[in-house]
Amino acid sequence: MAARAMSLTSILGNEADTLIAAAYLHDIGYAPDLTDTGFHPLDGARYLRDVVKADDTLCRLVAHHSCAVNEALNRNLFDALTSEFDEERPELVEALTYCDMSTGPDGTHLDVTERLAEIHSRYGPEHLVSRSITASTPCILAAVKAVEAALSDVRQASSG
Ligand SMILES: [Fe+2]
Repeated sequence: MAARAMSLTSILGNEADTLIAAAYLHDIGYAPDLTDTGFHPLDGARYLRDVVKADDTLCRLVAHHSCAVNEALNRNLFDALTSEFDEERPELVEALTYCDMSTGPDGTHLDVTERLAEIHSRYGPEHLVSRSITASTPCILAAVKAVEAALSDVRQASSG
């Protein structure tokens, strides 16, 4: 996934480093030692904020990665998430979602529809994560589309 982030250097300029850091760290909340609420974007962002003292932008990106707000609603953690962590600028948020949603759990490249199908099949139809991903799908698809459009603009500009 970090490789995907590096491929976005052309559209993010000097913010690419923040995106690459977020790409490495976004799922850190799954680590058993830091699990608290069980909602990995919030657990990870709190750890980065409170223990690592990481940069605000990085914490916010991790907190909200891949349209996490929908899963927060389903877990009754919406207020905690949104009061503790503001949304970052759309360009960065979308870029991280794009990277996450075009990479499978083993690091292989997947297109977004394959990635969504992979999540549904891993958790099964009734699981809170699957229901949350269904709610997040329009947000995820819009993010992927926005990043692909930005990449295509950069390509056209550099070839023209
Ligand atoms: Fe995640």
